[in-house]
Parts: sequence; structure tokens; C-alpha cells
Amino acid sequence: MSEVKLLGTGSSVPEKIVTNDDLAGLVETNDEWIRTRTGICRRHIVTKETLTSMSVEASRRALEAAGIEPMDLDMIIVATLTPDEPLPNASSAVQKALGAHRAFCFDLSAACSGFVYAMGCAAMYIKGGAARHVLVIGAEVLSKIVDWHDRKTCILFGDGAGAAVFGSASQPGFLGMDMGTDGWRGNTLTMFERDMDNPFMTEAQKNAVNMESDEACKIRPRSRYVYMDGPEVFKFAVKQVPDSIHKLLDAQGLSVADIDHFVLHQANYRIIESVAKRLKVSLDKFIITIDEYGNTSAASVPLALDELMRSGRVRPGDRLMISGFGGGLTWGSVLWQIQDND
Ligand code: COA
Repeated sequence: MSEVKLLGTGSSVPEKIVTNDDLAGLVETNDEWIRTRTGICRRHIVTKETLTSMSVEASRRALEAAGIEPMDLDMIIVATLTPDEPLPNASSAVQKALGAHRAFCFDLSAACSGFVYAMGCAAMYIKGGAARHVLVIGAEVLSKIVDWHDRKTCILFGDGAGAAVFGSASQPGFLGMDMGTDGWRGNTLTMFERDMDNPFMTEAQKNAVNMESDEACKIRPRSRYVYMDGPEVFKFAVKQVPDSIHKLLDAQGLSVADIDHFVLHQANYRIIESVAKRLKVSLDKFIITIDEYGNTSAASVPLALDELMRSGRVRPGDRLMISGFGGGLTWGSVLWQIQDND
């Protein structure tokens, strides 16, 4: 069975920067509230970019860092909840733009855990011998599903894309993973896309399936925009992420002291601070990008990973703990070791 290593990373964000002061012109909020409650100073929002264009740019950078060509790719996964369109999927559009003729492509939906789940998939396909080179992208255009009149959510999110290329190797880079989902708490982060409607349904059936029978409607609005119970998500994250990290480390016979860098989903600076405190690890070991990008859901982990990999802080032998969490509710952690030849 083959081992798996990280070959290269890349990222791409929209040119347009939206500051907290810009948002104070839209909703009743202010720079101080946003900075102190979330750690966010600004976010990048699409004005001319698309999910595909950002994904392609991030991928080209990751391929260049990896030193391989698009034709070397066997598989492309795009983790996203905001594809440009549902059909064709985002990964097929990326394949076409890159000219990655040999790759098979699919999208993966697991909200802010999406990139971490996709990394797990890539590792399993490579280990199983079904693929040698896999391109994994996390990308979002959250600005199209955010209610720009809702101050509780619109200040949090941003757009962007990050990518990573994984390949088969002789030394183990991928050490293990821990994934979990709690569908019973799914109502804390939701968005409706489209009602059930076909010519064979009566009005009563449409109402029953779309409205009255929907238990969820009793506790949260039926909105086409992102709805979030912020405090509940916060509580979930600060408990679940350390639990997942400990579980993964225990399975590997390692402790938090063996980890050199923590790359967490960037949802709120205070969540990262609280996770560091619970793990009893210095915050210096955590990469922070939320100040610059806000919460970019599936793009946040690869954006942070790319920043870390290009920072010059990662040395051969270093261990990386990468954790995502969010809608579903979902969570996942993946443990990597950087090999000499990585
Ligand atoms: N500007 C100013 N005031 C705001 C505000 C804003 N943008 N948004 C909310 N407020 C107000 C609220 O109305 C509330 O006022 P009230 O006490 O008069 O009712 C007060 O600030 C506190 O609101 P609350 O929601 O309790 O704040 P909080 O400290 O929990 O922070 C979040 C809110 C959203 C920043 C925080 O809960 C969070 O980050 N949660 C996790 C979010 C997340 O990670 N989501 C994605 C998951 S991947």
C-alpha cells in the first residue's frame, strides 16, 4: 500500500477588500465589535471572480509548487457549498480549465469541514492505489448566500479558494484522521435552496413537504440565506475540536506536544483561542488568517495551510494537525508529517 504526501499548496482570493467600516455603512455594527468578537478585520468579496476562476488560479499555484502538470492528475475534488452552478459540478469546470484530461472529478459538500473530508478521501484513494496524484480544492463564494442586511452573519463571511496536491510516496506523510457528524444538531447552521415542486404534487402536499411538516421551521427561519445560531456553533466548536484532536492523537500514540503546527478552520479568533487553551498549547502554534479573510467555509483550511506552507516555518519532520468543523454539524481532523523530500 502506498503512503501519501503533500506535494504543494496554492490559494486565490478576490481583489475587492471589504473592511469592517464598509460593513458599518450597511448594517448597525462597528469595527470594534467585529474585531473583539470575531478577530475579523477585513474579508475579500467577489466582484469579477467566480468560484471556478479562483479555484483554477489556486490550483495552478498548487500544481506549480508540487512540480507536476495537470495531465499528471488522476482525481480532482472541490469541497464547496457554493458552486457556480449545480450542473456541471465545480470540479469538472476546474478540470476543463486546467486541461486535466486524465482526472475524474467530483464535488464534496460538508460545509466548513469539506476540505478536511476531501483530504481524507484523497489520502484513501492514493493509499488504495486508485490514484497517484490528487488535486483537492476548498472554495466558496459565500457572498451570494449571505443576507447583507443581517448583522449577525454578514460580518463573518468572505470568499476565496485554496488548493493542495497530494501524491503517492514511500514515506508516510498522512498519519491518520478522525471524522464525525451530528445530524441532530443540523438546525444550527442552515440554508434552503429550493422548494419541492413538481406537476404530480397537490398544493397540500407541497405545503406539507415544504412548510408545515418541516420540524426545523419551528425553530429557525426558512431562509434562502445562511441562518446560524452563532452561540450554539461556538459551543460545539470549542468542545468538539479538542475532543477530535485528542482522539486522533491517542490513536497514534502521540500527544499535543508532538504537534508543531495547528491549522484550524477560521470561524472566529476566540474559537481558536479557546481550543488552544483547552489543549494547553501556545497560540503561536496556530496559524491565524481570519483577520484577513473572515470565515470562508471550505476555503478557510486550504487558505491557512497555504499561508503556513509558504511562511518558511514548516521544517521536514514537522507534524501538522488540520481540523475543520461546521454545518451538518460536521467535524474532522487530519494528521500529517512533512517528509524530507516534501
Ligand atoms: N454588530 C454589533 N452588535 C451585534 C452584531 C454586530 N455585527 N451581531 C450581533 N450583535 C449583538 C447581538 O444583537 C447581541 O445584542 P443583545 O445582547 O442586545 O441581544 C449581542 O451583540 C451579542 O450577540 P451574540 O450573538 O450573543 O454574540 P456572540 O458573542 O455570541 O458573538 C458570533 C456572535 C456569531 C460572533 C459568535 O457566536 C460566533 O462566532 N459563533 C460561531 C460562528 C461560526 O463559527 N459560524 C460558522 C461555523 S463554521
